[in-house]
Amino acid sequence: MDNRKPIRLGVNIDHVATVRNARGGYHPDPIRAARAAIAAGAHGITAHLREDRRHIIDIDVERLMRDIEAPLNLEMAATEEMVGIAGGLRPHAVCLVPEKREERTTEGGLDVIGGGKALQSAVDVLSRHSRVSLFIAADPAQIEAAAKSGAAVIELHTGTWCEAVSATDEEESLAELRRLAEGARYAVSLGLEVHAGHGLDYGTAELISALPEIAELNIGHYLVGEAVFCGLDAAVKNMLAAMARGRARLGAPA
Ligand code: PXP
Repeated sequence: MDNRKPIRLGVNIDHVATVRNARGGYHPDPIRAARAAIAAGAHGITAHLREDRRHIIDIDVERLMRDIEAPLNLEMAATEEMVGIAGGLRPHAVCLVPEKREERTTEGGLDVIGGGKALQSAVDVLSRHSRVSLFIAADPAQIEAAAKSGAAVIELHTGTWCEAVSATDEEESLAELRRLAEGARYAVSLGLEVHAGHGLDYGTAELISALPEIAELNIGHYLVGEAVFCGLDAAVKNMLAAMARGRARLGAPA
């Protein structure tokens, strides 16, 4: 029996909107980027609607829901405003992330243990219409709390690992990758589906795709940066090929 699992790629288009917003007009259009990413083989689209609307804005999410058939993973903070927006749109998936106004990007994982009633209520309400994912560090206590919350998915924060890799800190890279691998294994043992994302490039995406528990990667900044040099179509195809090489280390199809 072939029990090898495929791995999906969600393309995060936030930074197409960042470039568009730099001039306040319509170009480049993140929905056009979403269409190109799907045509290149991506399995889904991810977009983060932040409280300050610094990149993706409400109309982008509405158009993604209306014009793109591929599944949308809406990243958002667990606030009343965002839960209301997601309730109106009912995207395929919602990924709850921590959000600080002053941060450049999502800097840390969600504190599920300290999230209290507000987070639990967001998970309960959103789960009625969307697959809910919690973006957390590979910390066993946070993973347990995520499983207890009833969320279907966790997305492991790969940012610290990717930073260690790019700083060529081998010891730290290995320790972080081991933490991610153990976290992924523990999460699956608790019945969670496991995704990963943040800071991934071709090299780190290939390495993490070799972990059999990872079902999906969500990647944005690097792909949009690469698209400047080779186009989004080639960047997405290169990323899928890197993931396939990682999966092949398991002898699994990508
Ligand atoms: N996953 C989550 C939950 C994120 O918040 C982000 C950043 O928006 C990503 C994945 C993608 O990270 P990057 O843009 O570094 O690939």
